[in-house]
Amino acid sequence: MASSSSFCPKHALTLFTSNNNRHNRVISPEFFVRFPASGSLGSSRCVVSIDSSNSNNNNNVKHRLMTSGSSAAAPVMDQSPTQTTSSPAVPTTVEVDLGNRSYPIYIGSGLLDQPELLQRHVHGKQVLVVTNTTIAPLYLDKTIHALKDGNPNVKVESVILPDGEQFKDMDTLMKVFDKAIESRMDRRCTFVALGGGVIGDMCGYAAASYLRGVNFIQIPTTVMAQVDSSVGGKTGINHRLGKNLIGAFYQPQCVLIDIDTLNTLPDRELASGLAEVIKYGLIRDAEFFEWQEKNMEALLARDPSAFTYAIKRSCENKAEVVSLDEKESGLRATLNLGHTFGHAIETGVGYGQWFHGEAVAAGTVMAVDMSYRLGWIDDSIVKRVHKILVKAKLPTTPPETMTVDVFKSVMAVDKKVADGLLRLILLKGPLGNCVFTSDYDKKALDDTLHAFCKS
Ligand SMILES: NC(=O)c1ccc[n+]([C@@H]2O[C@H](COP(=O)([O-])OP(=O)(O)OC[C@H]3O[C@@H](n4cnc5c(N)ncnc54)[C@H](O)[C@@H]3O)[C@@H](O)[C@H]2O)c1
Ligand SMILES: [Zn+2]
Repeated sequence: MASSSSFCPKHALTLFTSNNNRHNRVISPEFFVRFPASGSLGSSRCVVSIDSSNSNNNNNVKHRLMTSGSSAAAPVMDQSPTQTTSSPAVPTTVEVDLGNRSYPIYIGSGLLDQPELLQRHVHGKQVLVVTNTTIAPLYLDKTIHALKDGNPNVKVESVILPDGEQFKDMDTLMKVFDKAIESRMDRRCTFVALGGGVIGDMCGYAAASYLRGVNFIQIPTTVMAQVDSSVGGKTGINHRLGKNLIGAFYQPQCVLIDIDTLNTLPDRELASGLAEVIKYGLIRDAEFFEWQEKNMEALLARDPSAFTYAIKRSCENKAEVVSLDEKESGLRATLNLGHTFGHAIETGVGYGQWFHGEAVAAGTVMAVDMSYRLGWIDDSIVKRVHKILVKAKLPTTPPETMTVDVFKSVMAVDKKVADGLLRLILLKGPLGNCVFTSDYDKKALDDTLHAFCKS
């Protein structure tokens, strides 16, 4: 296996790029980004940029130091789950570094009561808030007030969509366009997504395509959306034959995360979002995983301090990956640990039956099982993954209705299939390391599927 690595002495970070060309076929390079064992992920970060225009083995690596707002203020709760500090008045800010499309993620309590935060990112005089029937009674008035307070010239319209993953489709998307066109929204208007990942993905895709692209703001209200879907610009809708098959990369102007919105989130939804938090630890941040092992109870108890930290650290991890690989040519795909199996579950059982994070949790267990069968990780990781998912009240096996054939047929149309080969994100090496590869023994995949399915 050919590989190259490059080391940043200042921040003690090593980037490995390996390109496996066995069997004389072109396989996407595997990316490993290894962070130092003890936390350097404080207020200053080492950002590694991969210039993918270069040949695979000679990636051009540029390092920069990035400091992010007041984020260093967020506490790490190492021991006591009941330890709390008051939420900061100034929001914790994480920057997504994408050149002239960079944007801030504001995280904190009471942010919907700070109109200036939102208003500084609204261009033009027309705003369309996209939300759903569950969230509208809870937060629509507050959001409209935040958009209009001291700003009477702004006209705010809203469209309230039916609630559910099963409505993340073309018909429902059209209702957003209907409202925008009926309200004569022009090119300078701003679309605001107020809701979970479904609303964020749909509103983002609507913003990307309405008049070929209008301003867009994310106000995520689920853990899932706050730690993952609102950051990074992936937008889209489902097709009957597969999840998120129609969409666009489209970055927002800002992401405003008011953690108070989590107070109304049902427990099962909260747990679903934690599957993505756990994912960041597994793929690239062992120290964060260890923090989660100690603080899962605090997260389930909705401790604001623990949540602010978990969201910040998740957003930092996601922002870093997105700024290195916005359009998913390699590294970004690692954020999909457990998702190939998970999407098969979501599609197999019907959208909305299993929550996204629940399917990802069971999918993560399958990916970890396969990694172990390949001899790539030791069994202590298998046990820790199982334990933390159980602690987070997430499923660790797929539903009984899933068969090997259903898994295989849905996985065959996964977006990560390239040249007929299914690329998977698998753990490899010590905790916090993963690979994105199609170069694995197919028997291990078969064995995993048979181990988790009755037929
Ligand atoms: N774009 C991305 O990068 C990305 C990443 C991960 C997931 N996703 C997508 O996100 C979606 C899942 O997101 P989700 O888990 O947020 O589901 P969701 O949007 O369906 O929200 C879950 C439920 O919680 C309700 N809800 C939302 N906020 C609430 C609040 N504060 N109080 C009470 N109820 C509230 C919603 O109305 C819904 O019923 C999937 O479609 C998935 O594909 C996208
Ligand atoms: Zn996900």
